Amino acid sequence: MSTALITGASNGIGLELARRLAADGHDVILVARSVDKLQALADELGGRHGIRAEVIGQDLGYEGAAQELVDKLGDRRVDMLINNAGFGEFGTFIEADIKRLNQMIQLNVATLTALAHAFGRRMAAQGGGQILNVASIAAFMPGPGAAVYYASKAYVLSFSDALDFELRGKNVRVTTLCPGPTDTGFATAANAEGSAAFRWPLLASLDSLADYAYDSLKAKRGISVHRWLIKLMAFSVRLSPRFLANYISARSIGFKG
Ligand SMILES: NC(=O)c1ccc[n+]([C@@H]2O[C@H](COP(=O)([O-])OP(=O)(O)OC[C@H]3O[C@@H](n4cnc5c(N)ncnc54)[C@H](OP(=O)(O)O)[C@@H]3O)[C@@H](O)[C@H]2O)c1
Repeated sequence: MSTALITGASNGIGLELARRLAADGHDVILVARSVDKLQALADELGGRHGIRAEVIGQDLGYEGAAQELVDKLGDRRVDMLINNAGFGEFGTFIEADIKRLNQMIQLNVATLTALAHAFGRRMAAQGGGQILNVASIAAFMPGPGAAVYYASKAYVLSFSDALDFELRGKNVRVTTLCPGPTDTGFATAANAEGSAAFRWPLLASLDSLADYAYDSLKAKRGISVHRWLIKLMAFSVRLSPRFLANYISARSIGFKG
């Protein structure tokens, strides 16, 4: 049976994807900083599904962290990489803490890239594999009031789309998951609670997003945007003048200028 490496598995989307992978008989390697939460999940999944669930405590938000994780794994075979760990930071750019913004770029962009590089290579040499990179609806538009987060996800979308094209000849497929606002720990961590984006009708349940994400992985879809309303937003931004896209995005984030 195959092994899935899941970053950000202690909560939210990563945790629910781990549950779905384990239920289908895949071994899982669970990575995040909260080792207690990961261990509780590993015990649950191993006990319920008889799979091997391994815990690796690793902060992925600094330069060199991805290589530390690769070193910890040694030559362990990984068939699926779920590049999910990430966070947002809502607020005015010039008032944000630059260290936190750099950590975000490191985690959302640099670590995701380094892990795709390390495991994409191995998968190509193994004769196949799958990578799921978690982007966002934010990838499709500028985000005044969360400018760096939105830009980080635009990178993930562009990078993953190209990587899928590069690697498909080697039987490695890359799925780009683009969730809209989803009920996880994300909004609290991003200081985004109360913004219009995290209310009806935009807010999705974690279960429905995780089901969609897992279906996308199984079907080896490329760019996967959850829910018709979010698809409509992503599409309409392409047809809108940039100022209008900025304005609507700023309103949904709660940025008033
Ligand atoms: N929820 C949404 O509305 C939404 C929408 C679009 C895209 N996304 C994306 O979905 C992904 C998952 O987010 P979520 O919604 O599931 O949020 P979440 O509930 O806050 O979970 C985030 C996960 O990332 C891990 N993480 C955060 N910083 C880390 C670090 N420095 N090193 C290692 N792991 C770290 C957390 O674990 P520890 O704290 O234990 O390290 C946790 O397991 C992110 O990439 C996010 O940008 C979310």
